[in-house]
Amino acid sequence: MAKKIAVLVGSLRKESFNRKIANELEKLSSDNLDLEIVEIGNLPLYNEDLDQNPPQEWTDFRSKIKSADGILVVSPEYNRTIPGALKNAVDVGSRPYGSSVWPGKPGGVVTSSVSALGGLAANHHIRQAFVFVDVPLMQQPEAYIGNSSQIWNEDGSCVEKTQEFLKNWIDAYEKWVNKF
Ligand SMILES: Cc1cc2nc3c(=O)[nH]c(=O)nc-3n(C[C@H](O)[C@H](O)[C@H](O)COP(=O)(O)O)c2cc1C
Repeated sequence: MAKKIAVLVGSLRKESFNRKIANELEKLSSDNLDLEIVEIGNLPLYNEDLDQNPPQEWTDFRSKIKSADGILVVSPEYNRTIPGALKNAVDVGSRPYGSSVWPGKPGGVVTSSVSALGGLAANHHIRQAFVFVDVPLMQQPEAYIGNSSQIWNEDGSCVEKTQEFLKNWIDAYEKWVNKF
């Protein structure tokens, strides 16, 4: 049976390049992985007080992550770190204390940027949070996609060179998931 991978896209923008990259990864992945974007834009900001009677959006999000076999983050960098929406999702999933949904789920991270740097800082900041919530993250190969506005053909498909890169990366991630 295919392993279910919850994909968190750090950008909430409709035409997000990261969302497009996430969709590309789904297309390129083998039948052994079932990638599904879990939306994070509707999650109320984490507030410990609300955990007495948690918002439905938190409960739904937590159960989707709980039922996943792995976690894949595809995100831009905002002001040299991860977008607030993504950090909020990490926080929501990590509580209530003792009931975190993250531990042990094999993770992968892809960052992209319209600049040449490919979201390097954000990539390592998500790694930092995932270490603490006990998501074992694939270390290599890394994925920093630079110039993310320029990797698309006129018909909306991804340019061949980036497709090859992403294919190699998602196949490595599949092997990583299978180790768990
Ligand atoms: C609030 C904000 C902060 C940003 N900060 C950075 C940054 O620190 N580094 C970077 O490379 N790009 C930065 N960018 C540019 C993003 O790389 C670019 O907007 C990218 O397209 C966002 O990803 P998306 O297409 O998936 O929405 C920033 C964009 C926004 C909106």
